[in-house]
Amino acid sequence: MPGEMPRLGFGTYAHDDPEVCAESVRQALEVGYRHVDTAQGYENEADVGRGIRESSVDREDVFLATKLLTENLAYDDVIHSTKESMDRLGVDTIDLLYVHWPLNTYDPADTLPALDELVDRGWIRHVGVSNFEPRHLEEARDVLENPIFANQVEMHPMLQQDALLADAREHDYWVVAYSPIARGEFFDHPAIAETAARLDCTPAQVCLAWLLDREHVAAIPKATGEHVVENVGALDVALDAEARERIDGIDEEHRVVDFDEAPWHATTD
Ligand SMILES: NC(=O)c1ccc[n+]([C@@H]2O[C@H](COP(=O)([O-])OP(=O)(O)OC[C@H]3O[C@@H](n4cnc5c(N)ncnc54)[C@H](OP(=O)(O)O)[C@@H]3O)[C@@H](O)[C@H]2O)c1
Repeated sequence: MPGEMPRLGFGTYAHDDPEVCAESVRQALEVGYRHVDTAQGYENEADVGRGIRESSVDREDVFLATKLLTENLAYDDVIHSTKESMDRLGVDTIDLLYVHWPLNTYDPADTLPALDELVDRGWIRHVGVSNFEPRHLEEARDVLENPIFANQVEMHPMLQQDALLADAREHDYWVVAYSPIARGEFFDHPAIAETAARLDCTPAQVCLAWLLDREHVAAIPKATGEHVVENVGALDVALDAEARERIDGIDEEHRVVDFDEAPWHATTD
């Protein structure tokens, strides 16, 4: 298995209200999450950092991940903007720093050596990528001195990403599933709704338990209030063979994050 990382993380995209964001991160840590996911682009790193400090959990017990904006991917910008992220978060090490998208100023030969340099400086512990397709992963492996620790991509029962997961298992890194409950859009799909009823849990918990049942997969649901507690309850849901077979067998695909320039639409770039 890849290096250690708590497999249930707390997503913070669209936690835009500073108080609600900080309080949700604090609440998530109090109820058992030990991994928090943010990004320069979410403009909430300061609130996420405050939530961690306001919780009773020690900083060293939290796995903290952030992502570089696509305009910050030139070598010097990677270094400077990571320092700014550390200052906003109020930490002296980031556990996992991702390239958010292989787009815009992303240039493997320029961008990736800067991430290696950050590992050498001790500013980040692990190098991550996000929204990378197999061709980007292969190219990154050729350039990076450090192993890829994780590829963060959309993954849930309606987008199972078998090819990307096979690559992760072959090369031994994590797939971190974003939009892991597909923002609630498919809770009424029969495979999900009927499994939830049969296992006496909720559709969100079925989606998360299915992800956590897959080797090399972690999941980072975003939530507020009672949903924060409901989602951590997925850790107590034991998926059985019938549930696994039913959900694995879903034969439609839907993305909740999509746009014309997205890497999965281009065959080369
Ligand atoms: N790398 C990337 O490009 C990328 C892209 C997208 C997301 N992400 C990361 O992945 C995280 C999760 O993805 P996401 O935010 O897109 O989607 P998600 O986690 O699948 O869904 C979040 C939405 O579902 C609601 N929700 C949460 N728990 C629920 C429950 N138990 N029952 C009903 N509704 C519930 C939330 O509302 P409430 O807040 O009201 O609970 C929110 O509207 C993000 O926050 C971000 O950290 C990364």
